Amino acid sequence: MSMNVNINSPNVKYTDSHIEAKYSYQTTSVHRDGNKVTVTPHTTEMTFRTERQVPQLGVMLVGWGGNNGTTVTAAVLANKLGLTWRTKTGEKKANYYGSLLQASTVCIGSGLEGEVNVPFRDLLPMVHPNDIVFDGWDISAKDLGGAMERAEVLDWSLQEQLRPYMSCLKPRPSIYIPEFIAANQESRADNVLTGTMVEQVEQIRADIRDFRQSSGVDKVIVLWTANTERFCDIVPGVNDTAKNLLAAIQAGAEVSPSTLFAVASILEGCAYINGSPQNTFVPGAVELAVQRGVFIGGDDFKSGQTKIKSVLVDFLVSAGIKPTSIVSYNHLGNNDGKNLSAPQQFRSKEISKSNVVDDMVQSNPILYQPGEKPDHCVVIKYVPCVGDSKRAMDEYTSEIMMGGINTIALHNTCEDSLLASPIILDLVILTELCQRITVQPQGEEDFQSFHSVLALLSFLCKAPLVPSGTPVVNAFFRQRASIENIMRACLGLPPQNHMLLEHKLQ
Ligand code: NAI
Repeated sequence: MSMNVNINSPNVKYTDSHIEAKYSYQTTSVHRDGNKVTVTPHTTEMTFRTERQVPQLGVMLVGWGGNNGTTVTAAVLANKLGLTWRTKTGEKKANYYGSLLQASTVCIGSGLEGEVNVPFRDLLPMVHPNDIVFDGWDISAKDLGGAMERAEVLDWSLQEQLRPYMSCLKPRPSIYIPEFIAANQESRADNVLTGTMVEQVEQIRADIRDFRQSSGVDKVIVLWTANTERFCDIVPGVNDTAKNLLAAIQAGAEVSPSTLFAVASILEGCAYINGSPQNTFVPGAVELAVQRGVFIGGDDFKSGQTKIKSVLVDFLVSAGIKPTSIVSYNHLGNNDGKNLSAPQQFRSKEISKSNVVDDMVQSNPILYQPGEKPDHCVVIKYVPCVGDSKRAMDEYTSEIMMGGINTIALHNTCEDSLLASPIILDLVILTELCQRITVQPQGEEDFQSFHSVLALLSFLCKAPLVPSGTPVVNAFFRQRASIENIMRACLGLPPQNHMLLEHKLQ
């Protein structure tokens, strides 16, 4: 189902090339002096301009032969081919459930038939996932047919239908620096680049150009869905500035493979998204992206346990209930779990998962004193038997009225890669859309893009990367509202306010 959304307003102009919308951005500035809070409303007039021409999008995945890489590629192929397959519970049909843009809707208003909800993807011109062309790199040489079988995610009868297509896809050799991922990954590293660091970065750049040319796509976005790396130390003179980072690569100093990929993509003018928790975006990489006006985004797909946390803690704290302890266990039996069984790689994940409730806790000084936080503990254990079908067990303990205690225990079982794959699609499609949106504040001559650090991707990330000095929002519904309301602004529509005044007055 798709819908054609057309805005009937003198403030919105459709030209052959653009949708141009005049918009009043309403915000407040707040001055706090002890208990006295003075709030001043402001309105800024601006024009949003969205290019209507949707390009042919190419996506290059680092870690293409992994569970996520093979699953997202297979899912897109299955959707494109309209495949169906039988399981013991009946016939299944390819779909994009779990994708914000493809499988969720926004309420655009009400008419004679009541509320009208339209698919998110129909709000603005966007790339359809079926039209994405995939390519990528992996340190394992297995073709995608074999890699899909190794992943043990998709039903066998679907794999059989997809294999002829998937087997033709072969990951390009990648940059492998063993010390960054767990030692237990070494046995799969049979497809690796050699040469100096500079030569390897040059090869990645050449691969991007080669893909662009040979596939005929208009645009390429690169996304890291390879193994979680250990964190990198931020070292002055090495990775603190763009200049130093480029010099460090020349000198062959310590730079992680994921940062090398980020640098190669940025230098090729391609947006780069980090789906894993490590600190790929060292200050030098961020500076390089800003200098070149290239989008970067991350970190770490927000797929399961953390997504629930960003809903549940938001619900508790905003209902005036005080979470005092959150304990999360994970049993993971796929290759991601094997890699995370090494302490340094687990530590990256632990850091990424641990700050997710901070904004919600800080928002409520009635419940929490300055500096006070709930206890928060994250455990991940490698249990091969569960494969990709991860178990996440959480216990939330909260303080309720008059010293009462409320405990919520959750048990969540599902295929991890089937949660991450639609998020990969949302990340690249949203990034591509943002590349076609510019904004002109009133009184300024030029239209400007969003900041290179694309904070709008926060909804999809566990540890959102935001421009330095700007607030990090983890709360699920605030993140979703931000995407929805910015898209509405592109159509000259006010933010969704949920007031429903038309039904509340006499
Ligand atoms: P996986 O282990 O199945 O796939 C990773 C792939 O990366 C492997 O095929 C491996 O050979 C390859 N690889 C490792 N280093 C590489 C390098 N330097 N260059 C190219 N390829 C390299 O893992 P999976 O399940 O696909 O997850 C991928 C990443 O996504 C992990 O870091 C994981 O923590 C992260 N993630 C996954 C989520 C999920 O729900 N599946 C959620 C959040 C993050």
